[in-house]
Amino acid sequence: MNNFKFLAERAEYRSFSKDCIDAEKAYQNSYDSCVKLVRTALDAAIKWVYVKKNKIPPENLFDLIANAGLEKNLADKLHFCRKAGNAAIHNEKEFSADEAEQCLKNLFDFVQWIDAKYGKNFVPRSFNGEKNILQTEICGIKLNTPIFAASGTFGFGEEFENFVDLKKLGGVMVKCITLKPRRGNDGIRITETPAGMLNAIGLENPGVEKFLSEILPRIKEKMNIIVNISGSSVEDYGELAKILDVDGVSAIELNISCPNVKDGGIIFGTDEKQAAKVTSAAKKSTKKPVIVKLSPNVTDITKIASACENSGADCLSLINTLMGMEINIHTWRPTLGNITGGLSGGAIKPVAVRMVWQVANAVKIPIIGMGGIRSAADAAEFFLAGASAVAIGTANFAEPSITMKIADDLEKYLRSCGLKNIRELVGKVKV
Ligand SMILES: Cc1cc2nc3c(=O)[nH]c(=O)nc-3n(C[C@H](O)[C@H](O)[C@H](O)COP(=O)(O)O)c2cc1C
Repeated sequence: MNNFKFLAERAEYRSFSKDCIDAEKAYQNSYDSCVKLVRTALDAAIKWVYVKKNKIPPENLFDLIANAGLEKNLADKLHFCRKAGNAAIHNEKEFSADEAEQCLKNLFDFVQWIDAKYGKNFVPRSFNGEKNILQTEICGIKLNTPIFAASGTFGFGEEFENFVDLKKLGGVMVKCITLKPRRGNDGIRITETPAGMLNAIGLENPGVEKFLSEILPRIKEKMNIIVNISGSSVEDYGELAKILDVDGVSAIELNISCPNVKDGGIIFGTDEKQAAKVTSAAKKSTKKPVIVKLSPNVTDITKIASACENSGADCLSLINTLMGMEINIHTWRPTLGNITGGLSGGAIKPVAVRMVWQVANAVKIPIIGMGGIRSAADAAEFFLAGASAVAIGTANFAEPSITMKIADDLEKYLRSCGLKNIRELVGKVKV
């Protein structure tokens, strides 16, 4: 929706154009804020009408509307906005997408009336209600869709450019970055399981220096970049967060849940105190939003989630892989070089949905849900459970363009439910 943009080009409407544009922008994030801002914009616009007529504007918006010389139909529309705005300001009710849109449309009719009556080159315009149904926001980051690519399954994003419109993703959680380069684990790193895969890559990555000097400049304009980081000490996380507080990085994701390395990772994700320390260390070192990625390899994930929230985490992502093992019955040896590995893919989806639901009931910060998502139907379960966005991991290996299909199908699903925005699905499971 871009209905009020034309006002910004007209210097004489300066006193209310920004309020109108802000009201429309707010529609993407909160219907209640949108309705409140419509009222502010209406106030400013109607005062402008009075100034134009050289009258002293009265304090009361009701008087303003009554005396502005409007036809009854238009005055009724403004009263609708005034009443709704008041209810929103006093938190008397929650507004639906339709009500917020109606307020915007009424405001639009009013500014059209102003332009027709007082404007120099009036052009009749009609209200455009078409909006991006998948557009949303997380930690202040604008997302064209709530679909991310999960860390470790999508490289640095650029590898997928031929298959995916990177701007159509909410963002890419790039492969985990550590302070020093890592060559990863020896021996076999991946094995297929009945419904997913077991991996023990061992956080192979070029290190933060090379990421910043060579990779980030190449990819930073192409997508929202979430940098997944891991360290062997609390200080490592703080240092990495600080080094990565640079232009082009949208957020930091703390990987406190990697089950495939001996020196750290998961130890921070299975102990509340450690999780809290790592979160605080990162928060103190960066102005970027901090997302903490939780491990499913715990008894009660809500305790870790709350510890991270209380230490300042802006968002939680879950789940990382579940620890697993496979044994070759001919050699009697473990298949993976690392002995154990992380299970991902379809098999873990019910565990992930359950954990997202539990965490959503325990914290107030947003959640990015992941674990076994292979279709829009799978993704919808995560939104219903309480995730504000989702990430796709293992499914990218089987079908590199799967994220696009999931986005398209999710849009169709929302329309079939009569919903106007993905946010209307979040946490709506009926239990
Ligand atoms: C091969 C592979 C590598 C991964 N590497 C990372 C990583 O570097 N950092 C991280 O936080 N998660 C990593 N993960 C976990 C995924 O990001 C995701 O949390 C998990 O696989 C569950 O989602 P999925 O079932 O859709 O794959 C990796 C997963 C796979 C399969």
